[in-house]
Amino acid sequence: MAALLETEIWADYRGGKAVLNGVRLEIAAGETLALIGQSGSGKSTFAMAILRLLDWKGGKVRGRIQFDGRDLTAASEREMRSIRGKEIALILQSAASALNPMLRLGTQFEEAWKAHSREPWKTAGVQKASQLLREVDLNPEEILRKYPREVSLGQAQRVLIAMSLLHDPKLLLADEPTSALDVIVQKEVLDLIRRMTASRRMATLFISHDLLSVAALCDRVAILHHGAIVECAATADIFANPKHPYSQKLIGALPVRPQFPMVDLPSSLVALAESTAQSEQVSIAPVR
Ligand SMILES: Nc1ncnc2c1ncn2[C@@H]1O[C@H](COP(=O)(O)OP(=O)(O)OP(=O)(O)O)[C@@H](O)[C@H]1O
Ligand SMILES: [Mg+2]
Repeated sequence: MAALLETEIWADYRGGKAVLNGVRLEIAAGETLALIGQSGSGKSTFAMAILRLLDWKGGKVRGRIQFDGRDLTAASEREMRSIRGKEIALILQSAASALNPMLRLGTQFEEAWKAHSREPWKTAGVQKASQLLREVDLNPEEILRKYPREVSLGQAQRVLIAMSLLHDPKLLLADEPTSALDVIVQKEVLDLIRRMTASRRMATLFISHDLLSVAALCDRVAILHHGAIVECAATADIFANPKHPYSQKLIGALPVRPQFPMVDLPSSLVALAESTAQSEQVSIAPVR
């Protein structure tokens, strides 16, 4: 089956050395792929490059970004605007900076709706937004009236997740979507992403430092190191038998190895979290 997304990307920032050095990845429809690597390795750069948003950060991308039959490196800005937020959605690392502090959340949902739908916001839009907000365990009537300052960081992150799914994207780029959430909400959000992936055949690129979430959620794992993918394999294989020395170092740092298959994601995650109670979150340490 043809991949939904296939990349070979080089990227750098003005005056800096190359961040991505031919990053080759493939994601199939309905697949959840983890992208992991140390802080500063270029994971967020990769997500921004796919959406052709690097210019805005003073960066440049070249290579090939084949998405659903089109090469996005050759797409016009107008085409990219019709893809961003509709066919490819992005959840950013920082919920606080992704929401406009001056606008009620309902207004922000309405703008996101009108950007890509001709159906009326007041009926179809509100209905879809409310359904998604309930799925992330928020009360739509309350939330849509509030300003971003009136919700907690975890609530803001769930609002963003709901907003990103408004147009049933084919691909979700989730850049550390759960790092600001407590472990209970983290599980709910992971479970939501998993349900969405299964029911809508949405593909997800899940960028995370949290290897336990990766183990619980993802079909495959790609490891980014020195600007390239050094290993990409099925999640169970990579945890059981990491091949590259950098992968071995990452997986070796886990106090407990997850057991596969993880049938019930929430309880598997709770069990793992309990068995690693000493370390609140297993994160990727910088390699020296
Ligand atoms: N706007 C920018 N201008 C110049 N350099 C940048 C810019 N944004 C990022 N970089 C550099 O590019 C490299 C990759 O950054 P990126 O944010 O993609 O890393 P990351 O893997 O997402 O890290 P983290 O896990 O901390 O989020 C880093 O060395 C960073 O300093
Ligand atoms: Mg990042």
